[in-house]
Amino acid sequence: MSSHALEKFPRVRLAQLPTPFTQITAPELGLKLYLKRDDLTGNGLSGNKARKLEFLIADARAQNCATLVTCGAVQSNCARALAVAAAQTHLESYLILTGAVPAEDDGNLLISRLAGAEIEFLTSTDPAERDALLARRTADLAASGRRPYVVPFGGSSEVGALGYVQAAFEMATQLGPDAARFRHIVTPMASGGTYAGLYLGFALAGLPIRPIGAFVCGSATEWVPTLLDLIHGLARLLGVVVAADESDIRLIDARGAGYDQPTPAELDFIARFVRATGVLLDPVYSGKALYALWRYLECGALDDPADVIFLHTGGSFGIFPHRRGLSAALAGLEPHAADVGAAGCLPDAPVAAQAERPATVALHAATAKAASAVHRASRRATPHRSPELRPAQTISIASP
Ligand SMILES: Cc1ncc(COP(=O)(O)O)c(C=O)c1O
Repeated sequence: MSSHALEKFPRVRLAQLPTPFTQITAPELGLKLYLKRDDLTGNGLSGNKARKLEFLIADARAQNCATLVTCGAVQSNCARALAVAAAQTHLESYLILTGAVPAEDDGNLLISRLAGAEIEFLTSTDPAERDALLARRTADLAASGRRPYVVPFGGSSEVGALGYVQAAFEMATQLGPDAARFRHIVTPMASGGTYAGLYLGFALAGLPIRPIGAFVCGSATEWVPTLLDLIHGLARLLGVVVAADESDIRLIDARGAGYDQPTPAELDFIARFVRATGVLLDPVYSGKALYALWRYLECGALDDPADVIFLHTGGSFGIFPHRRGLSAALAGLEPHAADVGAAGCLPDAPVAAQAERPATVALHAATAKAASAVHRASRRATPHRSPELRPAQTISIASP
């Protein structure tokens, strides 16, 4: 099936596409990687949400809606992108932002305000309370004639995920015959729409590339059914059948100390990476995910690092609220980088508890083993490549 599968869905053009596909090298980190630069989908409207919003806003217009409503954390990239996209398309935006009310506007929040979003804070981070408030506000907006359209958390409805089906087709065209040499694309993950879209998109494009979700929140046991629901729902929307089951889901635990809580090791990695490559990473999504992937690659847990792509999903405005931590990391950098491997590989937070890991999540399980292997190896200062750390399963998907 080709990209014609998407033609029946309305889409507004918002993102600067195609985004670049590049290779970066950071010798002091021992990192050589292919990057799909979705951080460059736009300026204010940057990152992975731009692709989702192309389909979501078109859907809102098709339903004659006038106000985009969503919820997210105070520094939500999705909420900011939605506010900017609403301004671009002459819609209104209403954001429910959860967490401690900040003393001043910063990062994504400041940009949402500049774009004219109406913002309501909810100090509770309980998803049930958030969803209840979202339902109430949507009803209020409807009652006052503002014709609301709800964009779910992270833009990850089936309609939003179409944006990453399109992205997979875009990469197939961009890479041409070279596409066949890649096996994995690692994406930062928080609501799953990017993963689901890529999964189906590459399958429909007939390519062997499979996503690996570097999750920054939730747990592996929660992610497996969430992703499968999204993948199957998306397949239904597209009118195709996909035989994906839990053995097809690939995960890496990128949570570290928790959502929006970068560890010193992650911040140190970000500082070194930006210095070495000029590519910005944020401390909430792309920085955590790439740090987790880096540790994973260090362990030799993937057969061939050269067949891995990292999807840079943006989030750069999230740098600013973490200015203190990043400044501290910068202060700790040696002018001539010391032995990064030894410092950066030490597990900075316990990996997920064994009980939380389904047996089928091979990469996730391997990561845990690999992390402790690296920990041991880095103390011994001996090479730590270990064949038994490789994922036990090959990635498979039935053709739709
Ligand atoms: C910068 C960035 N990267 C990655 C993600 C995760 O993508 P998804 O929500 O589709 O899992 C998000 C948002 O959740 C994000 O803001």
